[in-house]
Amino acid sequence: MYEDLNGKVVVITGGSTGLGAAMAVRFGKEKAKVVVNYYKNEQEAIEIKEKVEKAGGQAIIVQADVTKEEDVINLVQTAIKEFATLDIMINNAGMENPVPSHELSLEDWRKVMDTNLTGAFLGSREALKHFIENDIQGNIINMSSVHEMIPWPTFVHYAASKGGMKLMTETLALEYAPKKIRVNNIGPGAMNTPINAEKFADPKQRADVESMIPMGYIGKPEEVAAAAVWLASTESSYVTGHTLFVDGGMTKYPSFMAGRG
Ligand code: BGC
Repeated sequence: MYEDLNGKVVVITGGSTGLGAAMAVRFGKEKAKVVVNYYKNEQEAIEIKEKVEKAGGQAIIVQADVTKEEDVINLVQTAIKEFATLDIMINNAGMENPVPSHELSLEDWRKVMDTNLTGAFLGSREALKHFIENDIQGNIINMSSVHEMIPWPTFVHYAASKGGMKLMTETLALEYAPKKIRVNNIGPGAMNTPINAEKFADPKQRADVESMIPMGYIGKPEEVAAAAVWLASTESSYVTGHTLFVDGGMTKYPSFMAGRG
């Protein structure tokens, strides 16, 4: 438990499912005030709101499409109106779909870049405005991926969005460090979430991915949530511009295990 998170206001984009939902519930356990953003599935968001409240926090749900500037502005403004301020912005909403790069349409490229990268920029910008105007030593956490450093064939739009996120986060961290506003990434590896459900339901594909993880198992969303609360808390007060990989060692060149090479 992180006592300083008690009563803090946190916005989580894509907070109704997957990693976002796990973070919402964990912030609830920390007695935070959680703004659960959802895109389409209101019912899912209502269920997560109830889980946050049951865990000990407060919650509201807000619909927003993070690719739309006016939606992101409204999301942050609603948080501020309902809970009086904003302390922590978690830009988590993301999407992926494999397509051979030579067949990837401009529309698909833009959809992924707009959701994963531009959405995170808009969320960061709106949070920064509030932090600066109100002299808040706020905290921004962007949900990146191991693919901010590992190239990923057929996911060129996804990998480019996460690679972009790495330098966006580092740049924002540097720009706002004098104001003690911290900006960090979490870089999950292969996690048990709806985005991967189909892939991991197939035992062959699951075993294949597991063989790329030195720790040998697909990560649990709660393991990402544990990293998020630490990064949001004062326990990590000197950490900024960093990507915290939560990946069971996936980024550490598993093909070299046991002295190969
Ligand atoms: C993706 C997952 C993938 C993992 C490891 C994540 O960023 O969302 O689909 O399994 O990276 O490749």
